[in-house]
Amino acid sequence: MDIANFGVEEWLNEWETKATYDLAQSTVSSMTLSEAISIDGTNPDDFFRSLYDTKMNYGYIEGSPAFKEEVAKMYQNVESNNILQTNGATGANLLALYALIKPGDHVVSMFPTYQQLYDIPRSFGAEVDFVYLNEEDGWRFPIEDLEKVIRSNTKMITLNSANNPTGTLIKEEDLRQIVKLAEKVGAYILVDEVYAPFSNPNSVSVVDLYDKGISTNSLSKTFSIPGIRIGWTATSKELADLFRKYRDYTMICSGIIDDALAVHVLKNRDKILKRNYNLLSGNLKKLQEWVESEELVSLVYPEYVSTSFVKFNVPVPIKEFCIELLKKEGVLLVPGSSYEIEGHVRLGYCCSSEVLEEGLKRISRFLNQYR
Ligand SMILES: Cc1ncc(COP(=O)(O)O)c(C=O)c1O
Repeated sequence: MDIANFGVEEWLNEWETKATYDLAQSTVSSMTLSEAISIDGTNPDDFFRSLYDTKMNYGYIEGSPAFKEEVAKMYQNVESNNILQTNGATGANLLALYALIKPGDHVVSMFPTYQQLYDIPRSFGAEVDFVYLNEEDGWRFPIEDLEKVIRSNTKMITLNSANNPTGTLIKEEDLRQIVKLAEKVGAYILVDEVYAPFSNPNSVSVVDLYDKGISTNSLSKTFSIPGIRIGWTATSKELADLFRKYRDYTMICSGIIDDALAVHVLKNRDKILKRNYNLLSGNLKKLQEWVESEELVSLVYPEYVSTSFVKFNVPVPIKEFCIELLKKEGVLLVPGSSYEIEGHVRLGYCCSSEVLEEGLKRISRFLNQYR
């Protein structure tokens, strides 16, 4: 079956290389290779020298034992053998959907969210119903609406917590409620967990609550190294075994060098989270001050998550607004229209503080024409 164009990726592919002040990214300011390796004092030359004699074969197909053990530590009840390395969280989501969704299946997805989570199921011939998040309700996930659309034959509920683009989190008590509803009909729950809330990086994962829960994640957002393309699925043994079959057809491995870097970064998780917490909290304060001083914008503040969904009160289509802003001021945002939502932009405020400050200043200058 055909698949819809991926709104956000299409926008970024076209414009991100043209930005001077890039406020469109949802990664917490990417680290350089040298910064990632030296985060614990390791000399990058020594790090690479230690790999010189390693044969460049496929290495460990599912990810090295060290990788799987480090990832398993992020969960309460997941054995390292049930962690499968993937090509980013994109690859993890694809693997889970490819393995489980068949033509005619019923899937419920939240909306807005990362488009993979509903358009891949549609492309596999599934029927997708949505549970809509509303700004007036603080972009909270409305469980009462899930109750209305879930069916006895619902195969899967797809969620993204914290949510791209709104930056809001499904609270643990709400996730437990969702699990109860899914359990009643035997539905899987896939939660894309790439945005860990920095106020609580150990917030509960669906895989720790439910045997049909699938947690996907990667090193791209919270860990600041999207360039190494490492993600994973965390599941029960039964699901991991099913995924293995499908994984063999779609990827062999992520490569020895990327695996070694991933292990290094995961072993230094606390240091990286500290770096990123400091950056995020300082920048969130700057964003708050700007929103409070800007009469034409409003924001449901993200929950210590690296993406925010700002509302702009301007009398032009938001895509047009974003293109003009880029051309005149060099500032890149993601128009809400890429998520089929007008009047909003995704503003990634976890870039360097200097870029954020200058970018916000320029947006204010650009807004002068609408005052
Ligand atoms: C919710 C969500 N999932 C997955 C991804 C892609 O992650 P990765 O780079 O690990 O493939 C993104 C990137 O924007 C995202 O926002």
